[in-house]
Amino acid sequence: MNFYVMTLFPDMILSGSSDSIIGRARRNGLISVQAINIRDYTEEKRHGRCDDYPYGGGAGMVMQAQPVCDCCDAVRAMITEAGGDGEHSRLIYLSPQGRRFDQAMAKELSQERDLILLCGHYEGIDERALELCNAEEVSIGDYVLTGGELPALVMIDCISRLKKGVLGGEESALIESFHDNLLEYPQYTRPEIYRGLSVPEILLSGHHENVEKWRRQQSIERTLRRRPDLLKDAVLSKKEEEYLKWIQTQ
Ligand code: ADE
Repeated sequence: MNFYVMTLFPDMILSGSSDSIIGRARRNGLISVQAINIRDYTEEKRHGRCDDYPYGGGAGMVMQAQPVCDCCDAVRAMITEAGGDGEHSRLIYLSPQGRRFDQAMAKELSQERDLILLCGHYEGIDERALELCNAEEVSIGDYVLTGGELPALVMIDCISRLKKGVLGGEESALIESFHDNLLEYPQYTRPEIYRGLSVPEILLSGHHENVEKWRRQQSIERTLRRRPDLLKDAVLSKKEEEYLKWIQTQ
C-alpha cells in the first residue's frame, strides 16, 4: 500500500515513519510513504508563501487553494504514473471537523492501493481546495492539534499494521483491542512477583482453556468498566452474555 502525504513539513512524516514496525514495513516494501512538500508547488516562488489572511477577517492564516490544488494534481499524476488510478485515489484531509477515525475506517482504508493524506496548518485550508481535490475530512479525535502531520502518522500506523506481513505474528492484529469490539485483557511477564504483586494464578496453571476463558472475562469486565459504549456491538457467546449480566450486578 502506498501513502502519499501532502504537507508543509515532510521531514516530520519521513522521520515519524522510519522506525519500529512501520519503518521495517517500509524497508521491506510492504508499504511506501512519500512526503510531498506543498511549498514546492506555490506560484509565489520568492517567499515560498502558501498562506494568506482569511477573507472576512479573523485570527490566523489560511492555506491557499493554488499550492494545495497543484500539489494534489501532481500527486494524482504520480500515482497514475506508478500504475495506480490517481484520478480516483481517495484523498483524506486531516481536520478536527472531519468524520471520526476508528478501527472500522482503518480496516476499510487498508483495502486501498494508494491513499493521499493532506495535512493542514494554520487556521485551515481554503474550502475551494478541499472541494476541488475531492477531499474527505477525517479527525483522529475531539481535540485540536497544531497540524495534520501527527494525525496522518496515526492513520498510517493504524492502517499499515492491518496489512499482511507488517506485524510479526500473523494473529497479533486480530487478538488486540477492539477485536469483537472488546478491550484487550491484561498482560504479564516475568518475574512472577514484582514489588509484592503476583501474576494471576491462572496464567501459571498451563491450562490453556481456562486461561482463554479468564482472558475473555477480563476483556468483558474491562470493557464494561472503561468503555461501556463498546459493549452494544460486542460479539459475545451466550455464556459470555450471562457473565456480563452477572458482573453488572456486582
Ligand atoms: N488537525 C488538527 N487537529 C486534528 C485532529 N484532531 N484530527 C485530525 N486532524 C487534525
